[in-house]
Amino acid sequence: MSRPVSAPRGTRDLLPEDGAAWSRVEGIARDLSERYAFDRIDTPLFERIELFSRGLGESSDAVEKEMFRVSGAAGSEEERAEWALRPEPTAGIVRAYLEHGMHVRPGPQRLWLIGPMFRYDRPQAGRFRQFVQWDVEVIGDPGPMVDAEIIELGQRFYTECGVRDVVAYVNSIGDAECRPGYRAALVDYFSANQDRLTDDSRRRLQVNPLRVLDDKELDADLAARAPRAIDHLCDACRAHFAAVQALLDDLGVHCEIDHRLVRGLDYYTRTTFEFYVAGRRGQQQALGGGGRYDALAELLGGPPTPGIGFGIGIDRTVLAAAEQGVEARAAAPLVAVVSADPEALTRRLRVAGTLREAGVRVRADGTSRKLGKQLESAAKIGARYAVIVGGETGNVILRDLDASDQREMPLSEVAAALH
Ligand code: HAM
Repeated sequence: MSRPVSAPRGTRDLLPEDGAAWSRVEGIARDLSERYAFDRIDTPLFERIELFSRGLGESSDAVEKEMFRVSGAAGSEEERAEWALRPEPTAGIVRAYLEHGMHVRPGPQRLWLIGPMFRYDRPQAGRFRQFVQWDVEVIGDPGPMVDAEIIELGQRFYTECGVRDVVAYVNSIGDAECRPGYRAALVDYFSANQDRLTDDSRRRLQVNPLRVLDDKELDADLAARAPRAIDHLCDACRAHFAAVQALLDDLGVHCEIDHRLVRGLDYYTRTTFEFYVAGRRGQQQALGGGGRYDALAELLGGPPTPGIGFGIGIDRTVLAAAEQGVEARAAAPLVAVVSADPEALTRRLRVAGTLREAGVRVRADGTSRKLGKQLESAAKIGARYAVIVGGETGNVILRDLDASDQREMPLSEVAAALH
């Protein structure tokens, strides 16, 4: 026998026993997307690499180190095409927004999607090469109200998922007017302390000094005394951030300012934020993050268009909920349709169909085993009831497999008799 094929490193199979927890969390995300009046969008899982290098920035980890490249079929003209699996959805959504001229539609566009993202990173607990994000974006709204609304939406999601003690850490990293001043202050400060930086940070210092603040190995004392973005904001950015904070305060959203929160992608301007369970701020522990990206549309060749959104990691939310002991909602009781008559296949399927129409969760046994065996395996697969299909009368027998008692009744009464 040849060696079995295994899943690629950093990927996971969602197994039946995980399904309920995932469906619960994804269901809450879909439902909240509806209640907050977002419209669904889906974009391709692969895009031109240029979209990401222009949108996210050449020096972002997602582009520099973690890009999953895709090529066309061997021998085809597209073999060497410059595509990559999407590391995140925001660039693709803004591309679609521009490509379809969505700016002429009335009102800001409120868009959501749930889907897999790909980053060729070193796999670890909570960090996968394929993972799922729930993403929401509001394009065409300069804020500040929508900034607060988005952060409040994130907090509501965790609350509804039952994940406790989530804190939104927020910051403002300014815009094209004030960021250059802040960058220069960081370059001065860190250049004077080069010997205390990691190799990665020394390299980043020239290309993207904000990312030095992101370095988890940054000397704590050096970090604490580093220039703070909020001290360098221009008047417009300062007023915007003050308004966002005041709104979050009024709404009672649990948040804290974090001066080091600069985010890893170049498209951000002004408001940035990340969600963590309080006291758990490790590298793989951000449950979600996002911010404003007022310059992204222009980076992609479009007209100036403000935008803000977040990406929430579904994998990590499911893990956090499980760690905090949140139970997935029990599925509806399972009913097994069985019969002593090996010929009664049509009838088994008809009975199953009628029950399913009434909203019951049903598996039909299609074997010709003895009735006792069918009932035994029904109990083994977790059925709570069996509906025993008999002769030609309209009646069936409803058997409670836990209580081991049974009653004959018309099929039409079965759904109401389950509990
Ligand atoms: P991000 O912070 O790169 O932002 O990712 C958002 C969330 O995706 C993270 O907080 C984390 O929960 C999850 N995540 C990221 N990488 C991994 C991984 N390797 N394994 C498991 N989960 C992961 C963005 O992607 C932005 N597009 C968010 C955004 C939307 N900003 C504006 N709009």
